[in-house]
Amino acid sequence: MKVLLTGGAGYIGSHTAVELLKAGHDVIIADNFSNSKKEVLNRLKEITSVSIPLYEVDVANKEEVEKIFSENKIDAVIHFAGLKAVGESTSIPLKYYRNNIDTTLTLLEVMQEHHVNNFVFSSSATVYGVPEKLPLVEGMPTGCTNPYGWTKLMNEQILTDVAAANPDLSVVLLRYFNPIGAHESGRIGEDPSGIPNNLMPYISQVAIGRRDKVHVYGNDYNTKDGTGVRDYIHVVDLAKGHVAALEYADSHKGTEIFNLGTGNGYSVLEMIETFSRVNQVAVPYEIVARRPGDIDACYANADKAYEKMHWRAEKNLEEMCRDTWKWQSNNPLGYELEK
Ligand code: WQD
Repeated sequence: MKVLLTGGAGYIGSHTAVELLKAGHDVIIADNFSNSKKEVLNRLKEITSVSIPLYEVDVANKEEVEKIFSENKIDAVIHFAGLKAVGESTSIPLKYYRNNIDTTLTLLEVMQEHHVNNFVFSSSATVYGVPEKLPLVEGMPTGCTNPYGWTKLMNEQILTDVAAANPDLSVVLLRYFNPIGAHESGRIGEDPSGIPNNLMPYISQVAIGRRDKVHVYGNDYNTKDGTGVRDYIHVVDLAKGHVAALEYADSHKGTEIFNLGTGNGYSVLEMIETFSRVNQVAVPYEIVARRPGDIDACYANADKAYEKMHWRAEKNLEEMCRDTWKWQSNNPLGYELEK
């Protein structure tokens, strides 16, 4: 199939491009590089030997999106493009709602005009809000604690309603848990701009010497060692989940939701210890105050993805830590070569 990846130059999009090409699909990337670097396309050429067609566009701009669909016979869309910083979304909610909703609405309108009927959406476990019980199952209650999460849940609702009204449309909503790690080549990986919000890129920047220590946000949570517990999933496993979702969408109609997680929860201190031990590198840390809005624990029941898509995560935490370190130590400043 010919697949349009919006935000395809990003962390998860770029890893998904590699796995789609490996599975024999064709890929087109649309990205405005607001949170990614053009250097990623060069690295993807290195890894796959394919010069992936690129459209540098704002996916909310209907004219620009129309051009992509009129120049290419697209079979499916995987929609990654969006603003995704939880903290930032509380300070500029209007920008998050405008961008994250408009992009989806524009894609749906243009897809309808061109009879493209497969839509895979990058959603997030954040739509579950504060879990009432664990592990999280797809049918459990949803409700968000920040505008970013609400944009994900609103997009899920929009896609569900549009698919209900259009019997030809197939929608798959993928609720990611905590993606970490990098492609085995060490040539693509997570490259947050500025100070990393997320734990693993912060750990790896401390390990490489860019930051002095990890600030552990609280050790008084109701967890095994008092620090936050999350379901970390290797980004390559996540990418393979998108290939499975694409093939599922192509053989089904209507809307389906899948958790993409491992089912295992690890604490912040376990992450720091594992990363340090596996990579034989020091990771100093300090316990500090909780981060507002953080929850004690969150991890998936991923049985449905295996039952319906025959997909499950295969890589363990040590592989996630080792691959993160290979990326970081090969690219101390990320894709800093950006011209
Ligand atoms: C993980 C754990 C922190 C940083 C977020 C988004 C979610 C999704 C994934 C997009 C928590 C602790 C973190 C640090 C720390 N993104 N921590 N020191 O918050 O589970 O999820 O990213 O979809 O929507 O909410 O991930 O990596 O920020 O935090 O102690 O410097 O590490 O308290 O327990 P989170 P995270």
